[in-house]
Amino acid sequence: MSNSETTGGTRTAELSYYAQLGGAATIRQAVDRLYGLIGADDSLIRYFDHVHLPTLKAHMAALLTMALGGPGGYEGRDLAEAHHGLKITERDYATVGGYLTAVLRELDAGTEIVAAVTEILTAVRGQIVEVFDQPTSVPGAGG
Ligand code: HEM
Repeated sequence: MSNSETTGGTRTAELSYYAQLGGAATIRQAVDRLYGLIGADDSLIRYFDHVHLPTLKAHMAALLTMALGGPGGYEGRDLAEAHHGLKITERDYATVGGYLTAVLRELDAGTEIVAAVTEILTAVRGQIVEVFDQPTSVPGAGG
C-alpha cells in the first residue's frame, strides 16, 4: 500500500527493492504466480512431483525477501543442498528464471529490480544447475 508513487525513472535509494515492490504482499503474489507458471509447464512439473508446495513457497518467499533487502532471514537449506540430485538442467533453470523476471515485471518491478534479481539468478545458478548438456543463451556462462 505504501510507496506506490515510486514508478517512473527516479532512483529511490532509501527504499529497499523489497519496499519499492510493495513488501510481503507483493512477494507472496510473485511466488504464487511463479508456481502457477511452473505448475502449468509440463517440462518442469516432474521436479515438483513429491514436493510440499506450501513449504517450498514459503522458503522461496523468504529467500526473495532477503535478496531484495526486506526484513527477516532465510532459514531454508543452502541452495546447493536443496537442489542436489534434482538434475536441474541449464534450460529448465533459464525457464524458471524467465518466469520469475516476467512475474516481477507483471507486478510492476522496475528495470533496476529486475536487473538485481537477474544478477542473483546468475550468481546462484552454479549452486542449482547440475546438467549442462543443452547450452542456452545465458550471458557469462563461462565454463
Ligand atoms: C531460479 C532460482 C531458484 C531459486 C532461488 C530456488 C529456491 C529454492 C528454495 C529457497 C528452496 C527451498 C529450500 C529448502 O527446502 O530449504 C528450493 C527447493 C526446491 N527447488 Fe528451487 N530454486 C530455484 C530454481 C529451481 C529450479 C529451476 C527448479 C526445477 C526446475 C527447482 C526445484 C526445486 C525443488 C524440486 C525443490 C524442493 C527440493 C526438496 O524439498 O527436496 N528450483 N528452491
